[in-house]
Amino acid sequence: MKYKNILFISHSPSLNTIKLSNHICMKAKRLNPNISLICLNPFETNVNSFNSIDGVIISTTENFGYMAGATKDFFDRCYEDLREITAGLPVFYYVRAGLDGQGSQIAINKILKGLKWKQVLPPLILKGKWQNNFIQKVEDQSLAFVNGIEMGIY
Ligand SMILES: Cc1cc2nc3c(=O)[nH]c(=O)nc-3n(C[C@H](O)[C@H](O)[C@H](O)COP(=O)(O)O)c2cc1C
Repeated sequence: MKYKNILFISHSPSLNTIKLSNHICMKAKRLNPNISLICLNPFETNVNSFNSIDGVIISTTENFGYMAGATKDFFDRCYEDLREITAGLPVFYYVRAGLDGQGSQIAINKILKGLKWKQVLPPLILKGKWQNNFIQKVEDQSLAFVNGIEMGIY
């Protein structure tokens, strides 16, 4: 079976968001040995990070009614080059938003459409006061994504 590579671009500026991203990085590797999960923050991510990548998970916080500046910086730097070489790439994303999350969702959806990436699962908007079940929600969606990539169903 061919090994599949998934890129996890995670902006985690707080203890809760670090908890979420660490959980995904550890769980995905442990539960699916045929997957390699490459965990980077948006500033570390560039066009070369997409070499041999079969799927992408993005996480961002919502700040000032929009995706985090770090996540926007990644799209600003890489959008044009990625548009040429990554059409059809499966993607799943989640937003941690203290209040709302809608501004991030609208903006990210537009960008993913422009990139012609395939949103194979609906985004998770983890909004409001922190709840411990956010971890389980992110785990469930991320594992569904990872397993779908491995089985080649997307
Ligand atoms: C400068 C700043 C701006 C923020 N703006 C928003 C916002 O516009 N909408 C929102 O839902 N949450 C906003 N938040 C809350 C963050 O989304 C939240 O703190 C972040 O997702 C981390 O979550 P945590 O507190 O559970 O660790 C903001 C936070 C900061 C620090």
